[in-house]
Amino acid sequence: MANHISISQKLSSFNKKIYVSSDKSISIRSVLLASQAVGISKISNLLESEDVLNTLKTIKKLGINYEKRGNIYYIEGFGLNGFNIKKKTILNAGNSGTLARLILGLLVKSKTQVKLIGDKSLSKRDFSRVIKPLRMFGANLKSKNNMLPITILGTNYLRPVKYKENIGSAQVKTCIIFSALNTPGITEIYSKSSRNHTELMLKFLNYPIKVIKKPEYEKIIVEGLKQFKSFDYSVPGDISSASFFIVLTLLSNNSKLVIEKVNVNKSRIGIIYILNKMGAEIKLKNKKIYNGEETADIYVKSKNNLNAINCPSKLNSSAIDEFLIIFLVAAKAKGVSKFRDLGEMNKKESKRLDLAVKFLKLIGIKVERFKDNIKIYGDPNLILSKNFEMKNFLKDHRIFFLCCITALTLGGKWKINDKDSINTSFPEFLKILKKIGAKFS
Ligand code: S3P
Repeated sequence: MANHISISQKLSSFNKKIYVSSDKSISIRSVLLASQAVGISKISNLLESEDVLNTLKTIKKLGINYEKRGNIYYIEGFGLNGFNIKKKTILNAGNSGTLARLILGLLVKSKTQVKLIGDKSLSKRDFSRVIKPLRMFGANLKSKNNMLPITILGTNYLRPVKYKENIGSAQVKTCIIFSALNTPGITEIYSKSSRNHTELMLKFLNYPIKVIKKPEYEKIIVEGLKQFKSFDYSVPGDISSASFFIVLTLLSNNSKLVIEKVNVNKSRIGIIYILNKMGAEIKLKNKKIYNGEETADIYVKSKNNLNAINCPSKLNSSAIDEFLIIFLVAAKAKGVSKFRDLGEMNKKESKRLDLAVKFLKLIGIKVERFKDNIKIYGDPNLILSKNFEMKNFLKDHRIFFLCCITALTLGGKWKINDKDSINTSFPEFLKILKKIGAKFS
């Protein structure tokens, strides 16, 4: 079957209500924490994307059984370090940096050596960020050049650490918290702020974890070896997936969209602050707190007079996966937008900062790049009419979504490859596009 889509028609005006796929970060964490709980956890609305299915396969290989009945995954955990690991176990994290980094944190006490591998894109990503703290705990890790494949052998002599996490990476922070769960004593993390789903989920499980907010960082204190019981969890919608539909609506003509029941955790909604600062009028209604997480319905309507932004870099972590689509808004805004310190974008599923610059130039936008800072010269009259063929984007799901939204809002005749990449995070993307009237083949 062809693995591309063709779009040659802009989306005409719409007024719809949609749900987007469930949150990927929360789905992966809920499965991994269920694997460490005592008893059968019930997780509903789990995202069924490749990254999450690889998480389920991973816990299964580690001796944890699960089954799906109706909309619910039943996962039976045997407590902390309750894995039953066979010799020569190989875990394949596929495309998922989150799974790969988080699972290492749960293996620090394993008596059997485990090998962790991933796909081509994940095998190019940096793991020194987790190898370093895990070795401080006492775990044995081997890898060439701090990349996958990695072998890990745990130890019975884990020691708590004090660690300064200064990338602002929730994957690193969570990996450390996970190894702290198995480690006697008190682990302290001084962390640059990043998404805090792990901390909220552990608090919801009554786990002794404390977060003290300081102006420049957060101090996270984790007591080790405290067991928690199985739990029920229903995963809300993913703001990262919603963001493509927010921008689709914003840049279309005379359209309105409501995206229901999305996770709007403050550490994730940088895109909403940024777009509202640019003149969008995105509203969050029907706010609710669910197991420590905030959910809301997102209301967005089209806007044709958006302004450039001088984006404060303190928002970077809360919008890290959304900058690609934010740049598209900057391309249509009036004035020159500035973004700084976005080096982390180049450490994702593909080198997203490099590709964003290439992409913006391809659609005729002037961009200046200095190190990890970029300036985007917006053009409110930008309309595309050329042919575009997009390939060689390392199968990055978010680049695929960006191309589709560009084609549907700015025009042109597009052939966009790597359609299957949508299965990484947002399998229902094309179905929802169709529902709101997009034409593609
Ligand atoms: C994630 C954290 C982010 C994000 C990734 C998911 C998570 O990565 O880019 O898509 O679930 O913890 P970093 O924490 O490395 O920035």
